[in-house]
Amino acid sequence: MDPVENGTKISIRKVSKIFSGKQGEVTALRELSLDVNEGEFVVIVGASGCGKTTLLNLVAGFDAPTRGRILLDGEPVTGITPECGMIFQHYALFPWKTVQANVEFGLKMKRMPRSERRNRAAKFIDMVGLNGFETTYPHHLSGGMKQRVSIARSLANNPKVMLLDEPFAALDAMTRQVLQEQLVRIYEKHRKTILFITHSIDEALLLSSRIVVMTARPGRIAQEIVNDLPYPRNADVQLSNRFMEIKRTIWESVQAEVMKSMEVETDQR
Ligand SMILES: Nc1ncnc2c1ncn2[C@@H]1O[C@H](COP(=O)(O)OP(=O)(O)O)[C@@H](O)[C@H]1O
Ligand SMILES: [Mg+2]
Repeated sequence: MDPVENGTKISIRKVSKIFSGKQGEVTALRELSLDVNEGEFVVIVGASGCGKTTLLNLVAGFDAPTRGRILLDGEPVTGITPECGMIFQHYALFPWKTVQANVEFGLKMKRMPRSERRNRAAKFIDMVGLNGFETTYPHHLSGGMKQRVSIARSLANNPKVMLLDEPFAALDAMTRQVLQEQLVRIYEKHRKTILFITHSIDEALLLSSRIVVMTARPGRIAQEIVNDLPYPRNADVQLSNRFMEIKRTIWESVQAEVMKSMEVETDQR
């Protein structure tokens, strides 16, 4: 056990990640540090290619940092952690399994008895509004519905933390808004620790309790802003003065980083 502050769920400590490939080395992250507290909804925003997915993969234990450490509840992350529920942009459902079987999958792995599994899955299918689709296969579902199945599956496993990598980026604007509001409802009810990645400032503001802006690659933390917009929240919050105020602050910081990342690209040509 490593000393972590009381209530710190995820502790990212001076993490660097260097990829080596045919074109040489790419430093995706450089000495990035960030603590996420229990029950926080932290949203990371940053330009494309700044290392957001890399960071999330390290937290989930899909890959290891080149330098630095990541602790989950004070324990170093050394491999894939079942306590982390990961939700990707591209759904990652089993196409040959029904909605019900997809949601039950993790529970089956944990050898939960069949009837208990059924009940638990039903509860979360209901929560994401997919009742009636239990026996449907993923290819008959819209993108938004598939992503709701991913969310239900993740919640059914009762993860310590939920990691979401641009989960709504591929959806149309209206579906996105419905799912954003649904995720806020779930957060308000369950107070899960959530680390969520997006390149949308509006999305960050609507969802988060804290916003972290990443720098252009190599990714570090450029700015952190406590999002004090009150919960319960819905999309109407976007009309408030405070929303516009925080948005402006974040936009300035993101804009500066996007400009830098464009310079990096030009230099490399
Ligand atoms: N497996 C890998 N091998 C080599 N380079 C990688 C690998 N994964 C990511 N990168 C590079 O690391 C940088 C950050 O990538 P990524 O974390 O996917 O950014 P983001 O999610 O913010 O768009 C990019 O320049 C990307 O090309
Ligand atoms: Mg990414």
